[in-house]
Amino acid sequence: MRTAIISDIHGNLEALQTVLADIDRRGVDEIICLGDILGYGPDPLQCVDLVSERCVWSLMGNHDYAVLYEPTNFNAVAKRAAYWTRGQLDAAAESDPESGNRRLDFLNRIRPRVRYRDAYICVHGSVRKPINEYVFETDVMDDPRKMREIFDRIDDEVVIGDRRVRGRCIVGHTHVPGIFQWTEEDGADFTRAVHLGGTGDADPLDEIGGGDDPDRDPFLVGSHVFDPEEKSIVNPGSVGQPRDLDERASYAILDTTSEDHRVDFFRLPYDIDAVADKIYAIAELDDWLGDRLTEGR
Ligand SMILES: [Fe+2]
Repeated sequence: MRTAIISDIHGNLEALQTVLADIDRRGVDEIICLGDILGYGPDPLQCVDLVSERCVWSLMGNHDYAVLYEPTNFNAVAKRAAYWTRGQLDAAAESDPESGNRRLDFLNRIRPRVRYRDAYICVHGSVRKPINEYVFETDVMDDPRKMREIFDRIDDEVVIGDRRVRGRCIVGHTHVPGIFQWTEEDGADFTRAVHLGGTGDADPLDEIGGGDDPDRDPFLVGSHVFDPEEKSIVNPGSVGQPRDLDERASYAILDTTSEDHRVDFFRLPYDIDAVADKIYAIAELDDWLGDRLTEGR
């Protein structure tokens, strides 16, 4: 079974359409969404509609929570964007009650936590605080105790087929794609997706990976085969607002076809200028929200 994992769309319709087209081209069995459909971007309604049509479920992200309920620890820019987004949903429900209420019904069904295919706990933030806690790559060095407490909450053992393996988790929220791995002996480690090895351009400015190989996949930046002895946390990165200084839309495909499950990470260029121009035209969305898309941060 092949599952596309998307996260942190943030109202960026062009990025979402680009990712969905790539997913369709590759072919998957289903798509799951880790939340933050909303917030920051100029097309929240269309993004909710696409996710509700295309994904088997979506999780509650902190920005979805902010729009539907209340912003928690938000700065002024994020708060203003959340209230503008709520206004868009409310206005749409008023002018077209049928589709507007269908959208709100979907948003009322998004969940904080889903266990997927027995082995994978899926949350937006962390397994400890599903909606709001970031699991940063810097935590590996700066806060080993936090990492231990988080990995303690991931299953010591799960069963895949007739094999017992260490538990796994899938998160979004930081907008940085990669894998955390954990063993009792060595503690936590993080590898960015681009350092896992792929055939695509790991850095868009610096062509490495497959080079001139005609068979190479230019969008596959990294692949990981799960080690049954390690607990792990997968982050597919952000569709609509990457923050690893690579401005391309990010997503991942989890492949559970063979006994050794694997995850492939993809990066896709999309029309950033079109999105930024829409943001600049909306007074409630700060210009920085357009600028940061170009900078990938
Ligand atoms: Fe997010």
